[in-house]
Amino acid sequence: MAQIIDGKKISQEIKDELRGQVAAWKEDGTEVTLAVVQVGNDPASSVYVNNKKKACAYIGIRSLSYELAEETTEEELLALIDQLNRDDTVNGILVQLPVPPQIREDRIIQAISPAKDVDGFHPENVGRLVIGEPGFVSCTPAGIVQLLKRSGISISGKRCVVVGRSNIVGKPMALLMLRENATVTVAHSKTENLKELCREADILIVAIGKPQYITADYVKEGAVVIDVGIHRNAENKLCGDVKYDEVFPVVSAITPVPGGVGPMTIAMLMNNCVASVSR
Ligand code: GUN
Repeated sequence: MAQIIDGKKISQEIKDELRGQVAAWKEDGTEVTLAVVQVGNDPASSVYVNNKKKACAYIGIRSLSYELAEETTEEELLALIDQLNRDDTVNGILVQLPVPPQIREDRIIQAISPAKDVDGFHPENVGRLVIGEPGFVSCTPAGIVQLLKRSGISISGKRCVVVGRSNIVGKPMALLMLRENATVTVAHSKTENLKELCREADILIVAIGKPQYITADYVKEGAVVIDVGIHRNAENKLCGDVKYDEVFPVVSAITPVPGGVGPMTIAMLMNNCVASVSR
């Protein structure tokens, strides 16, 4: 019977560990502060931002909320980031993406001080990950490594296939698995013989962004499958990039959607906020 990797439970464990750490620091007078910036009021972004603020409140992290108008200019946002960079009471800065089209995303990512870049998106932090130096790591891939480790799944020496090559998930995921001594292949929408390649994986991590794309014939018997996708199907139910019911009987372990990778992203953001104090 396959192991269902419980992201809700594991993320809760991590949040409780962080809560203990933050409470201990508070007794010594050290506070953790995250600045959360949202430009415009995209409903999906508002949900994410609220969940991040709720997680901060649970752990005891002070969150500062900046809600800027949709028409905000790039200069105005850069000025706010500059102010937050200089503010010694602010440990972490998060600008919720996407930003409106008049603002260049790469400018914003590069303006955040690498020492406060709790998303791990700044090129300096990405570079640190590449060369194996300590730095902030993108939250979703970092959360997946925690899911594997805390579920007792060994990574070292395993064949890992990452399907997807985004800057936020696929690329950092591949680098993290390499750091954990997996043998890593990155596949994507242009990969030839994707099915055959996926079937070689001991650990298959799917972030392809296509609902229920990965069927049982992509999966080796006994493989571990991690599903990063989140979509709504025809019945308006949440589903992932993996056809869960069909793949479940083939695997040794799998993440469900919802309740797998999703809750880990915020837990790792909180982890980065706590880590930002010592940076
Ligand atoms: N938008 C969707 N996911 C993320 C994330 O992890 N960080 C930020 N800043 N924006 C996002």
